[in-house]
Amino acid sequence: MENAPAGASSSLSSSQIGDRQDKAEGRLITVYIMGKAYEVPEEATIMGAIEYAGHQIIRGAGCREGYCGACATIYRLPGDYKIRTGLACMTMVEEGMTLAQIPSVPAEKAIYDIEKLKPNVTAIQQMYPTVFRCVACGTCTKSCPQGLQVMDYVQAAKRGDIAAVMDLSFDCVVCGLCMLRCPAEITQPLMGIMAKRLYGRYLRKESHELAERVKAVEDGVYEAEYAEMMSMNREDLTKRYYARDSE
Ligand code: SF4
Ligand code: SF4
Ligand code: FES
Repeated sequence: MENAPAGASSSLSSSQIGDRQDKAEGRLITVYIMGKAYEVPEEATIMGAIEYAGHQIIRGAGCREGYCGACATIYRLPGDYKIRTGLACMTMVEEGMTLAQIPSVPAEKAIYDIEKLKPNVTAIQQMYPTVFRCVACGTCTKSCPQGLQVMDYVQAAKRGDIAAVMDLSFDCVVCGLCMLRCPAEITQPLMGIMAKRLYGRYLRKESHELAERVKAVEDGVYEAEYAEMMSMNREDLTKRYYARDSE
């Protein structure tokens, strides 16, 4: 096992020369995982590289498709002072990358009864007062692997615009990277979840179509169709699925 980047340059042994030749053919690159050097396929994601290097990811992986937010990772690239952020399952390795996974970001979660809150700025003031410490530096937005305008939804929260918070934070996967980097130590994703709950409870428009369909289900209108599908084999069910009317 090699050491961290600082000691990895100068003279090369014959095995290292062989390694470099492999790299020249585009097969392997060196990345530094928790300070140790590993040779990994250049087309690997960070998550794939960690596992290729022999580590088992017990905490810090879930969907492997960019949805669950479990695989928050920080990294640096050679010659670049910036700490970068990404989801390990969605970010490709790069030569000389130094990385560490952040399996959990400690955060204080507000406990509330949604029935006792209103969808306004008072709810934000009571449950997530740290939001008002925002200095509008934009670090959260730069850190977000989902490309969300995180600072904008924090500003919307300060105005009590719950609908805007819901809209702007809708694709948040709660990876925690924005709150990890925030100099004001705001817990943006948790506040965003509360705003979405408030929106769902008080502001969303009622859907008459949905209410009608739920009533039809409760009245047993589809029972015969369900029973028929439950008795079908996989092949027939697949044909039926692809032959369906879809909007
Ligand atoms: S808003 Fe924050 S927690 Fe949500 S996806 Fe972006 S960085 Fe992750
Ligand atoms: S990182 Fe924190 S202080 Fe900076 S804009 Fe985002 S919420 Fe505000
Ligand atoms: S494992 Fe779910 S987002 Fe990466």
